[in-house]
Amino acid sequence: VPFVVLSSSLNPASRSRALARCAHEALGALGHSVEYIDVRDYDLPICDAATAYSDPNVLALQRQIAKSDGIVFATPVYNFAAASSAKNFVELTGSAWTEKVVGFLCAAGGRHSYMAVMGLVNSLMLDFRVHVIPRFVYSTETDFDADLQPAPDVAARVRELAETLAACSAALAGANATGRGEP
Ligand SMILES: Cc1cc2nc3c(=O)[nH]c(=O)nc-3n(C[C@H](O)[C@H](O)[C@H](O)COP(=O)(O)O)c2cc1C
Repeated sequence: VPFVVLSSSLNPASRSRALARCAHEALGALGHSVEYIDVRDYDLPICDAATAYSDPNVLALQRQIAKSDGIVFATPVYNFAAASSAKNFVELTGSAWTEKVVGFLCAAGGRHSYMAVMGLVNSLMLDFRVHVIPRFVYSTETDFDADLQPAPDVAARVRELAETLAACSAALAGANATGRGEP
């Protein structure tokens, strides 16, 4: 499976999930095979660095992330950071993210928390050498209509992120194939 779209909000009426659906559709329309993971579909444990790592859902999700080329990571902004459900997912799946290309879709209440994902981004980059697409999608409540449909310009930014993810993954695979970057 080349791509995974991961929705990490636990809110049944989530805006970041609406963006995740949009990214899923966009990658499919570009002809890529893409799987959708919604944390609401799994009864995930809180990471305890012990028994959580043998949970069957955690093991299955680790495998799903590990076999992907790239991940679109949709996350709510809580307390000026990525929501704990997003961080917990990374804590549970850890090294499965190694050297993936990752693009973020964020839903926030207001405009001021746009650096909220950077803690999680730093951790992915430094712990797992993840290639994070610098231009991520940051949305606020006013970017959605009453049915949680994203405004056309936001949907266009999601499509752009999907295209960038596919292009970066292909470029990285090409670079790895030719051995660029090896000593
Ligand atoms: C506990 C909590 C903390 C929040 N903290 C912030 C915040 O720091 N900055 C912000 O802009 N919005 C904040 N919000 C608003 C959410 O980011 C907003 O509701 C967003 O749509 C959540 O994503 P979701 O709809 O995908 O679940 C917070 C909401 C909750 C419930």
